Amino acid sequence: MVDVILGLQWGDEGKGKIVDFFAKRYDIVARFQGGPNAGHTLYKNGKKVVLHQIPSGVFHEGVKNLIGNGVVLDPVVLKKESDSVSSFGVDLKKNLFISQRAHLILPTHRALDKAAEMSKGNQKIGSTLKGIAPAYMDKTGRNGLRVGDLLDKNFTTSYIRLRLKHQRLLDNYNFSEDISAWEEEFFEAIEFLRQLNIVSGEYFINQEIRSGKKVLAEGAQGSMLDIDFGTFPYVTSSNTISAGVCSGLGLSPHYIQNVWGVTKAYTTRVGSGPFPTELDDESGEILREKGNEFGATTGRPRRCGWIDLVALKYACMINGVTSLIMTKSDVLDSFQELKVCIAYQIKDSQVSEVPFHINQSELKPVYQQFPGWNCSTSGLRHYSEFPENLRSYINFINDYLSIRIRYLSNGPEREQIIEISA
Ligand code: GDP
Ligand code: IMO
Ligand code: MG
Repeated sequence: MVDVILGLQWGDEGKGKIVDFFAKRYDIVARFQGGPNAGHTLYKNGKKVVLHQIPSGVFHEGVKNLIGNGVVLDPVVLKKESDSVSSFGVDLKKNLFISQRAHLILPTHRALDKAAEMSKGNQKIGSTLKGIAPAYMDKTGRNGLRVGDLLDKNFTTSYIRLRLKHQRLLDNYNFSEDISAWEEEFFEAIEFLRQLNIVSGEYFINQEIRSGKKVLAEGAQGSMLDIDFGTFPYVTSSNTISAGVCSGLGLSPHYIQNVWGVTKAYTTRVGSGPFPTELDDESGEILREKGNEFGATTGRPRRCGWIDLVALKYACMINGVTSLIMTKSDVLDSFQELKVCIAYQIKDSQVSEVPFHINQSELKPVYQQFPGWNCSTSGLRHYSEFPENLRSYINFINDYLSIRIRYLSNGPEREQIIEISA
């Protein structure tokens, strides 16, 4: 059987912490999409670790971690991350498996990402500049190189051929940057990658499932950054939603049981694009400061705003979410008053669906107000101890979405998570 944990907003919902928390109940944790644009924060022995390429089950002995075919892999990032997890005694040669079908991110992909963003001027996406879009473009354009190609003796020739193609594109952009240092790192890193377990991911996972093993599929980015259903073009370049699990790992939808959707108690977004509930005022500043809302990959300040139930309901629908997990409720502890977006006002009408043109300036959130709880909750361990106002906030969201919040995370540490029984 397969369960899924994914983000329902614009990313950084706390997926890494939640996957780490649940990982011990599974045999395999598998990443099915995205690449080093992801930054998943977890705590190991009280120390903060940010994972970009390696699945968040890596600190659990006996759990196998798979990087699926739907992922784009930067060997340089993987090698650096491997050094960081090795310092905790993790042996990636034992517990990391990489699909031979995962596409490689080359140094020129990173350069192309930069060149494309620069050319967009004030229309820029706010990409993480990790080479994601160019790598996925080479996948769908049928040019890319895959992890399995590393084992081919002609790899360097194929690399040079693709690099030349990229060079012509870079010339078109009038973009020049010396990438020789990147290339040197890249070739060192692929030597390292060749020593890891490169597998046929689809056979690997199907054999494990058939022998009764439990798989946890870990999403990166968030549903509103999905290439098809997100706020296009301000999205990432992969299917971040539950459907991506099947194509990103090579497994049948009938294996999927639970889809856990993770949402913050408010909303954040890093990078450009529509964000109906964004706050440009003091409340937004408080969310950023208390929530430490700075990108785990790029360090950029995250845009902050109230929870948006219209967008959340949409994300629950697209993903078939079966249960919810809410993170960062502790960040709201000091507010006297909270707002929840229950509809969008567009000109004279109120809508409760995400419109095609979510970017339009006439779109205004319609809020319902709630009294805050105004006390510290991060030390609480039982839901019954939580303030009444917080429970009313949760109940309202449960009712609106018709899906229950089953866990509440009230701090970044592994133990700071509370089960909410029915
Ligand atoms: P991910 O990309 O979804 O894994 O999330 P990130 O790691 O990018 O961002 C989530 C941030 O919130 C990290 O700094 C986490 O340590 C932190 N975090 C996660 N859960 C909680 C929580 O319940 N409360 C607080 N205050 N911080 C949390
Ligand atoms: P995790 O897994 C938040 C955003 C970027 C940009 C857009 C496109 O940590 O939640 P890309 O580099 O993918 O071409 O950037 O998507 N973005 C994320 N925002 N969390 C992420 O990952 C993100 N990955 C990409 O900021 O707006
Ligand atoms: Mg993140």
